[in-house]
Amino acid sequence: MKYLVNGLLAAVAVVAIGCGKTEAPETATADIFSFANTTQFVTRHLHLDLDVDFEAQALRGSATLQLERLDDDASRIVLDTRDLDIADVSFLVDGGRRVDTRHSLGDRDDKLGAPLTVEVPTELAGETLLSLRIGYGTRPESTALMWLPARLTAGGEHPLVFSQSQSIHARSWVPLQDTPAVRITYSATIRTPQELVAVMSADNDPDAERDGEFSFEMPQPIPSYLLAIAVGNLGFAELGDRTGVYTEPELLEESAWEFADTQAMLESAEAMFGPYQWGRYDILILPPSFPYGGMENPRLSFLTPSLIAGDRSLVAVVAHELAHSWSGNLVTNATWRDIWLNEGWTTYLEYRLMQEVFGMERAEEENVINYEELLDNFERIDPKYQGLAPKTALGDPDYAQGIIPYHKGNLFLQYLEQSFGREVFDAFITQYFDAHAWEVITSEQFLDYLDTELLSADPGKVSRAKAEQWLYEPRLPEDAIIPRAATLEQAGQLAVLWSSGEIDIDRLPADDWSPHATIHFIDNLAADLPADKLADIDAALGLSDTRNAEIARTWFTQVAARGYRPAYGQLGRYLKRYGRARLIVPIYAALAGNGEDEELARELFAAARENYHPQTVGFIESTLERSD
Ligand code: BES
Ligand code: ZN
Repeated sequence: MKYLVNGLLAAVAVVAIGCGKTEAPETATADIFSFANTTQFVTRHLHLDLDVDFEAQALRGSATLQLERLDDDASRIVLDTRDLDIADVSFLVDGGRRVDTRHSLGDRDDKLGAPLTVEVPTELAGETLLSLRIGYGTRPESTALMWLPARLTAGGEHPLVFSQSQSIHARSWVPLQDTPAVRITYSATIRTPQELVAVMSADNDPDAERDGEFSFEMPQPIPSYLLAIAVGNLGFAELGDRTGVYTEPELLEESAWEFADTQAMLESAEAMFGPYQWGRYDILILPPSFPYGGMENPRLSFLTPSLIAGDRSLVAVVAHELAHSWSGNLVTNATWRDIWLNEGWTTYLEYRLMQEVFGMERAEEENVINYEELLDNFERIDPKYQGLAPKTALGDPDYAQGIIPYHKGNLFLQYLEQSFGREVFDAFITQYFDAHAWEVITSEQFLDYLDTELLSADPGKVSRAKAEQWLYEPRLPEDAIIPRAATLEQAGQLAVLWSSGEIDIDRLPADDWSPHATIHFIDNLAADLPADKLADIDAALGLSDTRNAEIARTWFTQVAARGYRPAYGQLGRYLKRYGRARLIVPIYAALAGNGEDEELARELFAAARENYHPQTVGFIESTLERSD
């Protein structure tokens, strides 16, 4: 039986916002979330020259785009922006001379921002390569940037700012062609307050002097959603010869301990997926306001500090972000509708890495927990978005499909692995990454590649029609592999037995449980458990005071759904502490939906809101709107 309110990001509505188009675009690669005219001009390189102004909560300076003209007749460049103040626009010629030009900013669309149209002056009519310089500044309401006052940092003495560009937020800190279909190299000069350090998704130097100016190069071409920056009082600790951790000095030691396995993960990943193409792999642990568990910014994954559980139990997120170095960063989804090629592949690679580094039992436990979230998403997500590659245009690329691309994608690849055998499938994995490295790919291109290289090469195992079922039909095919973990099943059964009074609380082998087993236990408690039994289990397992943010998420979601008031104090503190959407959105949803606490949910949100990133605020707002 399922008693749960178990959603995450995806607990949020599937509301079609934005561009008003409901059909998928005609050409597979057209990006309905970008205004850029990428068939006429394409960006090759970006240079950023920016001042970081904490008082004004603004980045100010210039972006210079090296563009290649693909269409001789094209004379207008359209870029994406959102809430940018454009100061001046010019082309650079002959080693720096500026040719001014006309530009205009179109109407602002809530979701997409405003197109910036730039005229190419007649003087440059014959040129194929153009250097376009845009002087601009960001606004405090940038949906990518979060400006944290000192009190929201671990040290409490210095402010900190970080970006989150995926999916379509790069345009709110840089004017550019904001589509995954265009890859660019970039360089940057960043001026900061003297005492702070800047890092980017680029060649960070842990020994860089704190002199108020930092230079970066990213020589590998990346899509715009992987542009990233953070500035704060950051220290560095080495984890291995190619891996290290950046964070505030206060968190450095515990972070280095928690993520000590990063180098081993990198080495396993290379052994299984092919060479790591990006040089170093470092991680950055941000303050608790970071809106995601992790973000795969190349060379420097950004991570939530909620992963620091003190027992290394949540490091699958590191395996995940690292795996994106192949699936996503090296081979990239062509449009947001193809996001399963990033996230499904990555979740599968994460599962393989977890097997390799931590063993099968733990990997299977995580696989089962993921599967249950998937089942939950099938109940709440519109069936037209349940295919891996929906034929209906997405409303919002950040959450239209919930976690379906992740875990259904993972199960599709597990199904292929099992059908063809690990050896054959492993060869396919490296061959796939090799064949599409530095490219973007649509779901249909993937299907053709899969068909040629695997399905038709070894006929009679998996038909093309079966693969299409995974891509286009809701839910799971009937022969999908259902994940199982004996350890979790046992914890689930004990939850049922204890709920019905058939066993005593001191008979629960909770000390032997993994955090995942504890989560599974909580998830299987009976719906009608009386308050005194909730108090017993809270006390016995230390749930309201747990340091494990995933256990806390599960527990407080139950607390909220059941209206168990004795734990509301801790629940409120948890909501205020973490801005990671996955950890808190289900709790708000459960509170607003329990029939009594909608008002309380709004009050708690009002009190915590300033601790949240704009993207998290958006998720919670649409959750609370839905319960109106
Ligand atoms: N790339 C995603 C984060 C993301 C997805 C940001 C879509 C914006 C839009 C990242 O790799 C991710 O999936 N993070 C997960 C962790 C993972 C282990 C499921 C998260 O943040 O929970
Ligand atoms: Zn991911």
